[in-house]
Formats: sequence, C-alpha cells, structure tokens
Amino acid sequence: MNITIFGSGYVGLVQAAIFADVGHRVVCMDIDAERVDRLRAGEVPFFEPGLAGLLKNGLDNQLLSFTTDAKAAIQASEFLFICVGTPSRPDGGADLTYVMDVASSIARYMTSRKVVVTKSTVPVGTTDKVLAHIKQALHDQGRDIPIEAASNPEFLKEGSAVADCQSPDRIIIGTRSPKVLEDMRRMYQPFNRNHEKIMAMDPLSSEMTKLTANAMLATKISFMNEMANIAEVVGADIESVRRGIGSDPRIGYQFIYPGCGYGGSCFPKDVRALKFLAGEHGHRAEILTAVHDTNQRQKNKLAERVMTRLGFDLTGKTIAVWGLSFKPNTDDMREAPSRYVLEGIWSCGGKVRAYDPQAAEACRAIYGERDDLVITEHKEEALEGADALVICTEWKAFWSPDFEQVKSLLSNPLIFDGRNLYNPAHMEELGIEYYGIGRGR
Ligand code: UGA
Repeated sequence: MNITIFGSGYVGLVQAAIFADVGHRVVCMDIDAERVDRLRAGEVPFFEPGLAGLLKNGLDNQLLSFTTDAKAAIQASEFLFICVGTPSRPDGGADLTYVMDVASSIARYMTSRKVVVTKSTVPVGTTDKVLAHIKQALHDQGRDIPIEAASNPEFLKEGSAVADCQSPDRIIIGTRSPKVLEDMRRMYQPFNRNHEKIMAMDPLSSEMTKLTANAMLATKISFMNEMANIAEVVGADIESVRRGIGSDPRIGYQFIYPGCGYGGSCFPKDVRALKFLAGEHGHRAEILTAVHDTNQRQKNKLAERVMTRLGFDLTGKTIAVWGLSFKPNTDDMREAPSRYVLEGIWSCGGKVRAYDPQAAEACRAIYGERDDLVITEHKEEALEGADALVICTEWKAFWSPDFEQVKSLLSNPLIFDGRNLYNPAHMEELGIEYYGIGRGR
C-alpha cells in the first residue's frame, strides 16, 4: 500500500521505517529540509536502537523516501498519517498548530480520495476536527473529493521504539468508516499475525485511550513516588514495599519504580493536556493535578537533597552527575529530571561534571558551553575530585561500578541515587554515605 507520513520525529520515522520494512511504499514528509537531507543520507537524527538499519534497508530497496514537498507527498498516497508534534502550550493545553497545518495542506493539494490518520497524541475530538477542517476547505474551494479519517494512536516507548512498533500490544483504529477499518486492517496485517490485536472503536474513544494509557502510567509512577516519600518519613524501605505489592498480579511489577520523577516528551505533556481538556469541558481532574504536582516535587528532590546535605551555598563545590537523558537507551533530555539537578546545583553556585552514554550532545544543545559544566567522556572522569555523585538515569553502565574506584575518585564518598540502583546496606559496609529514594533516610 502507499502511505505518506507527515513528521519524521520518533513516531513518524519509526512507523515509516516499520511500514517500509514489511513492503509498503512510504513517503515521509517533513518541513525541516536539513533533517530530510540527513535522512536521505541514511542518518537517524536521534539515538534509537535498531532504527538506522531499518532506515538503510528502506532507502536501499526504495520503499522509503523523504521529501519537503507537501504536494508531492499528498498526491503519492491514499493514506496520509499525521505524526507531527503536539507540544504543550503555556496554559497546558496541546498546541495543534502543526496538525492543522497538515490538514490545510491536505485540503489544498489532494486531487483524489484520501484517508487522513491521526497518529500524533492529540486532544479528544481532534480527528473529527481535522476531517471537518478539510471538508470545509474542499467545500469552500468548490471541490468534491471523498475524504475519510481515523485515529490510530501509537504506544511505542523511546529506547525500544522499533521493537514496540513491530510487536504492538494492540492496534487501535478509531474510525466511523467500515471501509477505512477494512483497509487499515490490511495495512497492519503483518503486525497482526499471531493473535488479534486490532481494536476498532470510534475516534473519540481511540484518542481518549491513548491519553488514558499515558495518564494511568504516569499515575502509577507518581503514586509510587508518593509512597516512597511516606516510606522515608516512617522509616520503611520502598524497595521491599515495591516487591511486596508488585507480586499481586492486579498491581503488577511494571511502572512502580520510584525515582526522581518521570520525564520525556509524553507523560508530562499528556497529563497536562488531559487535565486541560477536562477543564475545558468543565471537569476538574483532581487526580491528574496531583500526579503532575507530585512529579514536579519529585524532580526537585535530588537537588534539594544535595542542598540539605551540602548546604545552600555550593560555591567551590563540584557535583558529579551520572545520566542526563530522561531514561536509558535514549539521548532525549526533554523534561528530564537531570535538568532540575543541574539547574539546582548551578543556582547555588556549584559546578557539575556530568557523564551520559548518549546525551552529551543534547545537553550541550540545551546549555551550551559554560564554566560550571564539564561533560566527560567516561563515567569515572566525571567523579574526579567531586564532592558527591548524583545518579539521574539508570543506564546499565551505572548498575555495578567499581565502588572502591568510585570512593577513591570522589573527594567525599557521598552518593544521591535517584534510581535506587544500589543496596543501602552494601553502601554502608563500603563506607559510602548513600541516599536513595524512599529507603529509610
Ligand atoms: C511513554 C509510554 O510508556 C509509551 O507507551 C507511549 O507510547 C509514549 O510515552 C508516548 O506517548 O509516545 P516514553 O516516554 O518513551 O513512553 O518512556 P517510558 O519508558 O514510559 O518512561 C517515561 C518516564 O517514566 C521516564 O522518565 C522513566 O524514568 C519514568 N518511569 C518509568 C519511572 O520513574 N518509574 C517507572 O516505574 C517507569
């Protein structure tokens, strides 16, 4: 089938590569000419395991192409996927400018039947809004061309995006058109082989499913972070509690890891957007407010700990930071907890020596060159002469370091661990002053 995808970010690019991999002919349209040039040369603009190989295959067998030409991209395919960004507006609502720009282009350039599919995470009602916008524009131009729509949210996780997309837990197709459902079923057939994963519903429920899934996962995390904070004041160990509750299959082990807060391009934005959407409809979403506020508090926690222990004046002090990305296996620092740590230390006059296996470039892009930031090549280098180590991301390389070396490199054996990687009793034996999250201190 011929498919056009608008937006070559995480969702668009991974989906395009996956569709081309199973034989669909995919055109990827992006307004960023530099990005398109890099993609044509086989260069993935962000770190995502497995994606470079798929991109290369798609380019080599000419099933995947990239363009900045909206007209050609629209006329190339019957199915037009919208995978552009929906960033937060200052009021917390989702900014639909890019989505509606695509809708306007479709109306301008389409000359035959089209099916427009919203894959970006959008407020409930957006698919209908996009369809109505295109129909109105066609009507205004006096053109009568069939146009239909579907919502088809994406559930991939950064860091395992390729695998998630190749083996989805579910494929949600929200449409009122039986023909669109049938065609999309054919499109997704290669991913729907072992058992039935397609769930058909109306577009409003489909959009709401995506927002609800992210809000539920964010709620689990904020809930556990709240429990960790209670565990700390009552002297319990949240790691024992986590294992204790996870053993109940109704609760499960996933997404109950306490830490220094959730980040990334999805949870923070989507919780805010859903809360805003509820408010627009006159409903105060108290749980979502609590989820968001708890997360903001949690993101400040590591920096506050450092200040409580080392003082609010960190002049002359250097803090080592391990992990800058919002989670392992990505170079993404959007809404990352590490940013609160860095900015907190700097606001008290301290210096940072940071190491991350992938996010050095992203960090430089955000903060530029500055005297109070050294980004090191190796994790050991970050420790040299530092007054403490703060761990923000649970990259595997940090799970089992040579603790004697850590001790000897730090000027002070002090660790603030935002991901509960180490055993407090072991740290005590080693003579390392250790602060985890919800672990009795
Ligand atoms: C999330 C969802 O997991 C995907 O299903 C969804 O498709 C995606 O958003 C999206 O809407 O596009 P992602 O943001 O890539 O995916 O990352 P996650 O692995 O979900 O992690 C999000 C944050 O939660 C990270 O900061 C992570 O450290 C934190 N987290 C996760 C915890 O603090 N504790 C946990 O137990 C799990």
